[in-house]
Order: sequence, then C-alpha cells, then structure tokens
Amino acid sequence: MAQSSDVDSRLHRTLRLISGAAAHLAAFVFTIYISCVSQLGTSLFSWHPFLMSLAFSFFMTEAILVFSPDSSLFRSFSRKARVRAHWILQLLSSLCAVLGLGIIYYNKVLHGKPHFSTWHGLVGLLTVLWALMQNTGGITLLYPKLVQRWTLSTRKLYHATSGLLGYLLGCTSLFLGMCSLWFSAHVTGGSWYLCALCPLLTGLVVMNQVSNAYLYRKRSQS
Ligand code: HEM
Repeated sequence: MAQSSDVDSRLHRTLRLISGAAAHLAAFVFTIYISCVSQLGTSLFSWHPFLMSLAFSFFMTEAILVFSPDSSLFRSFSRKARVRAHWILQLLSSLCAVLGLGIIYYNKVLHGKPHFSTWHGLVGLLTVLWALMQNTGGITLLYPKLVQRWTLSTRKLYHATSGLLGYLLGCTSLFLGMCSLWFSAHVTGGSWYLCALCPLLTGLVVMNQVSNAYLYRKRSQS
C-alpha cells in the first residue's frame, strides 16, 4: 500500500516536472516564432505581436513560474530573491505590454482604422489594464504599510486570484490574436494548432501551480 502511494507521488512529481519544463519551452519558443512570423523590424506593426508575446508569453509566464516548487529556474534562491525576480519580470512584462499597445494604437491611427473593434482588441485592452492594476496591487504587498485594509494574507490571496485571472486573460488575448486575419493568413494547418497549444499549455500549468500552492492550501487551512 505504502509502496504504491510512493510510486504515485513519484509519478505525480515527474509529470509536474515535465509539464513545467514544457511550459518554459512553450513560452520561449512561441515568442521567438512570433518574431519570425511578424518579420520583426520590417514594419511598425511587426512590433505589436512580438512585444505582446514577449510580455504575456515569456515575461509573465516566467514571473509566475518563479514560484513553482517543481520547475522554477530560481528554485535554489531564497523567497526574498524569488519575490524580487517576480516583480522585475512583471515590470518588464508591463513595459512591453504598454509599448505593444501604444504601437498598435498608433499604427491604426496612421492607417485610419477604427480602434478596439474586434474581440481581440477589446479583450487585449482589458488585459493590459488588468495587468497595470495587478502591478499596483503588487506594490501594496511589497510595501504592506501603504494599505491598512485587509490582512496581509488576505491581500496575498486576492493578488494570487486576480493574478491568475489576469494571466488567463493574457492567454485568451494571445489566442484571439492568433485568430486574427493577419495571423491566419501567415500561419496555417499544423503550425497554427501548435501555436494555439502554447498559451493553452502555459495557462494550464500556471492554473495548476497557483491553485495548488495558494487557493487549495488556503481553503484547507480555513
Ligand atoms: C496578450 C497579448 C496581446 C494583447 C494584450 C493585444 C492587444 C491588442 C489590442 C488592444 C489591439 C487593438 C488596438 C486598437 O484597436 O487600437 C490589438 C490589435 C491587433 N493585434 Fe493584438 N494583442 C496581443 C497579442 C497579439 C498577437 C500575439 C497577435 C498576432 C499573433 C496580435 C495581432 C493583432 C492584430 C492583427 C491586431 C489588429 C486587428 C485587431 O484590432 O484585432 N496581437 N491587439
């Protein structure tokens, strides 16, 4: 009996290690692939898909995986160092997101096209606003004395929950970007499905990490 639960937990850990490694790989390869498809630097538009993938697929995924007990690249670092890596990566993500949004907005002004007229544009705008609000919430965790309302642990729980929602919004925006006419004209067949798999995979891994480490634990403690 004890032996079979040992095998179970080893299998479970191996699966978590494999899915964590796959998430790192998907986040990185997706960003590189998008920069190739958009032919980065050949037009103003090309910077939008690249900066958004860099923001939400690479920096934001890595910023959350920093806390993964299985696949964090910062596993051997102290909690304090991981927190620092987390906010630096989130800051880089927000800078890329704001720049990417500014670029697509300006590009549309140049071409006289309407703004926020597609699901991708609308959900994308909400995602960037969410990410900025999430950063503000994060600052109050770094400097707890700034906010007196709610206990620190309650605010951490809110930060984790709304962060997860924001991350899933980011994955949805990436996916909707891949449904755009521009992307589906450039990438078709199996390559399109492989691309769509990337935010799906990282979304599942992050969802599993946050709910295991935070939400389930908090619930079982109460
Ligand atoms: C989470 C990442 C992303 C966010 C937050 C985002 C956000 C946005 C926003 C807000 C707009 C509308 C701007 C306006 O109407 O003035 C837009 C447009 C656009 N984006 Fe993204 N984007 C993201 C990723 C991508 C990706 C990965 C692609 C390509 C694969 C892409 C392709 C496009 C295209 C073609 C447009 C112009 C057509 C439209 O408005 O739907 N985006 N994006």
